Amino acid sequence: MLPLSRCSLPTSSNPGPGPSLGFLLHVHTMICYVLWLAACCLLLLLYSVRFRSRISHGNGPRTYPLIGCLVSFYQNRWRLLDWYTEMLAASPTQTIVVDRLGARRTVVTANPVNVEHILKGNFGNYPKGKPFTDILGDLLGTGIFNVDGELWYAQRKLVSHEFSARALRDLEFAVLEDEARERLVPALGLAAARGDAVDMQDLLRRFSFDVICRVSLGVDPGCLDPALPAPRLAAAFDAAAGIIARRGAAPVAAVWKAKRALGVGSERMLREEIRVIHEAVMDLIRIRKKERGLQVNDADGRRSDLLSRMIECGYPDEMIRDMVISFIMAGRDTTSSALTWFFWLLTRHRDVEREVLREVTGGGGASHAAGGQGKMSVLHAALCETMRLYPPVAWDSKHAAAGDVLPDGTRVERGDRVTYFQYGMGRMESIWGANAADFSVQRWLSIGEDNAPPAAVAGVSPFKYPVFQAGPRTCLGKEMAFVQMKFVASTVLRRFEIVPVDEGRVPVFLPLMTAHMAGGLNVTVRRRGEPIAAAATPLDPSADPVL
Ligand code: HEM
Repeated sequence: MLPLSRCSLPTSSNPGPGPSLGFLLHVHTMICYVLWLAACCLLLLLYSVRFRSRISHGNGPRTYPLIGCLVSFYQNRWRLLDWYTEMLAASPTQTIVVDRLGARRTVVTANPVNVEHILKGNFGNYPKGKPFTDILGDLLGTGIFNVDGELWYAQRKLVSHEFSARALRDLEFAVLEDEARERLVPALGLAAARGDAVDMQDLLRRFSFDVICRVSLGVDPGCLDPALPAPRLAAAFDAAAGIIARRGAAPVAAVWKAKRALGVGSERMLREEIRVIHEAVMDLIRIRKKERGLQVNDADGRRSDLLSRMIECGYPDEMIRDMVISFIMAGRDTTSSALTWFFWLLTRHRDVEREVLREVTGGGGASHAAGGQGKMSVLHAALCETMRLYPPVAWDSKHAAAGDVLPDGTRVERGDRVTYFQYGMGRMESIWGANAADFSVQRWLSIGEDNAPPAAVAGVSPFKYPVFQAGPRTCLGKEMAFVQMKFVASTVLRRFEIVPVDEGRVPVFLPLMTAHMAGGLNVTVRRRGEPIAAAATPLDPSADPVL
């Protein structure tokens, strides 16, 4: 600090008696300086008290006052999934607390008992919460995917009823058969004939977009039809999902919120894409209302897509719009993501591929004749195992409505983000044993005696495998998703052998809103001689409808 006597020396600019302006400025600066130092000390004290209590479990990343774990977060930003998984595996409770500047305190868990508590036991305390609904709200509005409490409950009741309706399932089967017969098989057949490489991920995403639009909206976007231009609606969904995923991953939410308020950059683009989606769906609602009673497609004279059924129920247009957009978002990329990893894994595990092929072509032994093939246990197991290692939804977060203590003793504060981490859970040795990292279909099967085909292992807890979430908010499309995945897998495998263009490549798992394979899955396809006669599938117990 400067000696006061030096500060008080008269200067040429302040020759008069009394304190000079320079002196006053110095005093003012000093007071500011002291106050600033005191504020810093106080903040440091507060943070160290707060952080000491937060890392008292000793789990989680290295955390410092003020910045929290920002440094290690930044260092690991390209491998967040594996970084979290390593920390969770090292934690005695498989739970960590992540605190960093710019983000709310986050409890991440891979502990099935905690997961059951969050998703079921204390369900009411763990809504999605405002931070989540803020991110998705512009696109999803008040659709089921993006609301809590009464709004969610009412939609859940309504939609559960619709999803269990026979008419919707019949529509799904018809759409799957048509889409496979008219588009997927010809597209792969053409690639096989020409020896062209195809991106399986892209093909499967187009397929599932067509299917979900036909089932939800009752319109065919023709995404997989090479004769038609890529539909604007599909592009709008892609662009909007990408920008929203970036909102979710932004280190500081205030940045995207400011861009939105100013209507600039990616937020301006998002607004435009959302406008396209909203207008397209509202147009459909208006058209469908006009044609009500004129166009029919099921036996009792009603259209059976979700949009038409909701119109019949008399819901307001905006509510219908939001609901169907939620279905499209939920059902669109999830199945294609799982199938992309499934086909890639089979190229690395030809023994499993042979078993699946044997099952879907009816070569599974004596008990197949008794109808056991309808369940397709090996295929089912291979799909479950794929999603254990590569879950379409890599993690999922709730926000604590009130303070709580998780069953493993981790303290949760009001407003904390509480994340259950499907990707990490699939890799925990504490859950799956020492071979957790291996692709092992056997863990889902019990091998039957006397040559009987393997049966599915019963009772794998959804809290240790929350790939479809669990508890009251379990995925509503789980059954529909398995039907679709089994149908596509058996349709493709019976006809084509898939060979990755780069056989040595280990693809990167990208946890966007729905997980993707970075760079897609480029493959060549070979016809397996003549199409192999189909086993009965859950879709059609008597024949192969695609042939
Ligand atoms: C392999 C495929 C699928 C997986 C892994 C999957 C996974 C999930 C997960 C993890 C959730 C919870 C998300 C959250 O609350 O943040 C969820 C919810 C949901 N899923 Fe799926 N899903 C799949 C396919 C589908 C399909 C095909 C549909 C049909 C349209 C669908 C419809 C829904 C709906 C409506 C919800 C919201 C349920 C609620 O909030 O009550 N899903 N799904």
